[in-house]
Amino acid sequence: MSDAPQLIPTPESMHVDAGSFRIDDHTVIHCTPDASECAELLADYLQVTGHRIPITSSATTSGISLRVDTDEDLGAEGYRLDVTTAGAVLTAPAADGLRHGIQTLRQLLPPDAYSSEPHPDVVWSLPCAHIVDEPRFAWRGSLLDPARWFLPIGYLYRYVDALAMHKLNRLHLHLTDDQGWRIEIERYPRLTDVGAWRKESPLGHQRDNVHDGVRHGGYYTQAELRDLVRYAAVRGVEIVPEIDLPGHVTAALAAYPELGNTPDVEVARNWSIHSTVLNLEPATVDFFRNVLTEILDVFPGRYVHLGGDEVPPGEWETNPAATARLQSLGIPADQAHVWFINQLVPILAEHGRTAIVWDEAATPDLDPRAVVMSWTSAEAGIAAARLGHRVIMTPMQRTYFDWYQVDGPHEPVALGGLTTLRDVVEFDPAPPQWDAEVRARILGTQGQLWGEYLPTPARVDDMAFPRLCALAERAWSSDRTDYDDFSDRLATHEQRLIAAGIGTRCLLRPD
Ligand code: ACM
Repeated sequence: MSDAPQLIPTPESMHVDAGSFRIDDHTVIHCTPDASECAELLADYLQVTGHRIPITSSATTSGISLRVDTDEDLGAEGYRLDVTTAGAVLTAPAADGLRHGIQTLRQLLPPDAYSSEPHPDVVWSLPCAHIVDEPRFAWRGSLLDPARWFLPIGYLYRYVDALAMHKLNRLHLHLTDDQGWRIEIERYPRLTDVGAWRKESPLGHQRDNVHDGVRHGGYYTQAELRDLVRYAAVRGVEIVPEIDLPGHVTAALAAYPELGNTPDVEVARNWSIHSTVLNLEPATVDFFRNVLTEILDVFPGRYVHLGGDEVPPGEWETNPAATARLQSLGIPADQAHVWFINQLVPILAEHGRTAIVWDEAATPDLDPRAVVMSWTSAEAGIAAARLGHRVIMTPMQRTYFDWYQVDGPHEPVALGGLTTLRDVVEFDPAPPQWDAEVRARILGTQGQLWGEYLPTPARVDDMAFPRLCALAERAWSSDRTDYDDFSDRLATHEQRLIAAGIGTRCLLRPD
């Protein structure tokens, strides 16, 4: 392995020089006024050095300088980092670039930089280097699913830290599903009073049909989520909420049965696809319009995910009111999920927001403004791009990190499937052989951690890392990455993950 800094994701270009700059009691952070929030973030990270590092707006000749410079010829998330023996200068055309440059600066420090305890005993040196960097893709995401097993809000903060460390910029929160509704909606309190709680959960694999007999639940208040959104924004991470509809709604129907097609629904106690779906009445569309109004107020980011996956049409085919409604709308039952989504896309658009849907909704009738996540296959993403949609590549064979990561007899129970670290490293979300037109519509990629078999934060960490490190590499870096090179860098990177308290599988990597 070379002495060059072992960075993940790999920067666009890096030249290393002799010498280093040492951070000590004389170091100051100098910033332009528009970089002051980033300077505070850096100062916060550098508390680990045990040195008191003040922030100043007066020019200094040494220390660490952060500057927003709109003349810098880089994309919105790009940055330039120059470390000499006199200090470090980080410049970017916008604050997001500075945020990513700060993460690179941290990776240039010893791995203890990620510790939550100060380490005044460590020599805190940055190697002299010149780095110019910007991402290949604008969308670099990670999905968490607290709908299946509720994840404590504190874990979401730690997870945002881990995303920022890898220059991942989207945390997709799957907030609602058959087994739980996890966000407070003030207008409809039963969504959480009733919908956030289930009587029991599967024990072991779903196919064993054994239950734990333990009531499970929880939800996030809007105030908690607003605080999380602000914390994430300072770190360059946008929270993308998902309200999954018109299927995966059993928890909502347990709370408000009038939204459905059958009486007596309870919050689901089993995983798998449920037959309960929303009805197609105007009052039901209005209900979700009102839900979205509150969602838009909590989450200021551009994107809101509306689901659209795994919607069995059975209830619409058999319920007399539903069949009459389909007839008056003039749509077949197997297109009703697209109709429902199409009622809500314009509501988001009116507020300057963009809807995202899973690829089953990407039929020719889907509102062209919707962005598509292609989970069933890469081909589904290509097809959606050909229909004119922008696409986030999330094919399950490469990006489902709730699938097994190794094929061995001692793995904790998982859904099934196998997505190895190598599968992720070798995944190109927009390979060169695809048409230029299709490639131009690929916004990026995202790793999924569906929650059915991830009942604790420790299980989420174990399945996320190191595969999410590989996803970050594929989403940020140019398409040069090969597995051996990545593995070499991961050997150093795992020390950072361990110092950060992230429960990683790196040390056990089989190949
Ligand atoms: C999905 O995995 N149902 C999006």
